[in-house]
Amino acid sequence: MSPCYTDPVTRPTLIAANWKMNPPPEGWNAIESPYRQTDGVDIVVFPPFVYLKSCIAAGLRTGAQCGHPEPAGAHTGCISMAMTAQEGCEAVLCGHSDRRRDQKETDNFIAEQVVAAFENKLFAILCIGETEKEREAGREREVVERQLQSVLDLLQSTTYNLQAIAYEPVWAIGTGRNATPEQAQEMHAFIRSLLPETHQSATRILYGGSMNAANAEELLRQPDIDGGLVGGASLKSEEFRKIVAVAAVHHR
Ligand code: PGA
Repeated sequence: MSPCYTDPVTRPTLIAANWKMNPPPEGWNAIESPYRQTDGVDIVVFPPFVYLKSCIAAGLRTGAQCGHPEPAGAHTGCISMAMTAQEGCEAVLCGHSDRRRDQKETDNFIAEQVVAAFENKLFAILCIGETEKEREAGREREVVERQLQSVLDLLQSTTYNLQAIAYEPVWAIGTGRNATPEQAQEMHAFIRSLLPETHQSATRILYGGSMNAANAEELLRQPDIDGGLVGGASLKSEEFRKIVAVAAVHHR
């Protein structure tokens, strides 16, 4: 099943590999590559732009790590949603916290990216999540609500609906300190409650932030965790294979 169309009944588990600014991991294009689609789990890889074509040619479901909402224009160093779709990408990450931090992407710009992704028939994964400071101040709900609401507001004037969200607490990304299953479940349930009622059960909400082979099971067992956006652990193919195996057991 294509990761691009959410099944409103079962929300199949989706495991996304975010390779960030790293080359494809060893064994990525082997016949037995864990990055290939497998029964019961949707898998999609997000390589740096220069590797998109090779991943697509190797038959992997491939997405871009970002995309400019305008189809073309004077934006040096950027690649548009339209271009990545033309190249054969199926998916795109919108608003990853690395880009909110490094490229100063704003909520409005991210909302425009999501709409452009849908216009180009890309499966958009909207990334949201609070920083450590914001959690310490007890503001985690307020922050994710703001990040999500700006996208929902813009989508209201369209016929599109969010297909996938990744809840990624910034303090858990790349730190080896994942959110506890209880913390993640609480936030996922909250995020789901903010979605339009008609789409609450259809939208997949992935967890991201130090997911690995050891903690994947307890996270994926939570009722509102529909998959993972995996960074560091997706760069080790055997570790990633184990995460996929756990996801296959917990698929709906
Ligand atoms: P991590 O990254 O798994 O290395 O914490 C997740 C992400 O940033 O998407």
